[in-house]
Amino acid sequence: MKPKQNLETICIQGGWQPKKGEPRVLPIYQSTTFKYDTSEQMGKLFDLEENGYFYTRLQNPTNDAVAAKIAALEGGVGAMLTSSGQAATFYSIFNICSAGDHFVSTSAIYGGTFNLFAVTLKKLGIEVTFIDQDAPEREILSAFKPNTKALFSEMIANPGLAVLDIEKMAKIAHKQGIPLIVDNTFATPINCRPFEWGADIVIHSTTKYMDGHASTVGGVIVDSGNFDWDGNKNKFPGLTTPDDSYHGLIYTQSFGKMAYITKATVQLMRDLGSIQSA
Ligand SMILES: Cc1ncc(COP(=O)(O)O)c(C=O)c1O
Repeated sequence: MKPKQNLETICIQGGWQPKKGEPRVLPIYQSTTFKYDTSEQMGKLFDLEENGYFYTRLQNPTNDAVAAKIAALEGGVGAMLTSSGQAATFYSIFNICSAGDHFVSTSAIYGGTFNLFAVTLKKLGIEVTFIDQDAPEREILSAFKPNTKALFSEMIANPGLAVLDIEKMAKIAHKQGIPLIVDNTFATPINCRPFEWGADIVIHSTTKYMDGHASTVGGVIVDSGNFDWDGNKNKFPGLTTPDDSYHGLIYTQSFGKMAYITKATVQLMRDLGSIQSA
């Protein structure tokens, strides 16, 4: 979906619309904790029955505004900031893959991503098969297995500069009932918006062009809200069956189009904690 505002306008105004009397420029909420009135209120925040701030590992107003700006630039329904691009890549896969699962990745990707996939995720019991993104569809399809949960790729590969045919990859992924995850670091949403070509999840190392000043390591995951997790229920039990750590809450039922990004935030970020500092 094309944004209502120009991308240049979203770069400046997106994510932060101050109300009367609030600061014009986005404040940095350098705070670990936030005030609450009663224990009951805190309990509701903990159980996701109420929306609000209480602890920055879960949500921080500055981070939320930045995430909303990037989500608007990409045309997604929501986003989550991470402490680095590596963390964003890891969470994007780990949010839907666990021990015994498999995913497919193009081989023209950043070397750090390659190591994460081929060596570290393997230690967690998650297997990857690398494919040549320019191979014929028939050859690419041979990499998929019944336990394949995602197709990962890089929009413009670092450092090889291979350019991804997103439409082709999205069609292949969707035929398998799995999402296409695209690392859009190099292009940024200013030059390419993968959701408009069928990608389901976008990740960035914001350390690069998005930071712009070579000062801050960071990452982000953006959810298009388009993937039908319930339509592929058996593949994604983490999203479609009860989460014991939230008294049996089911992400797709409670959060609809925001299921994937909400699970990443309230479950993975809660437990693994690679947050971006405000
Ligand atoms: C395309 C791409 N993705 C991910 C990363 C990892 O990001 P970070 O260094 O922020 O962890 C990099 C880093 O160079 C990259 O170039």
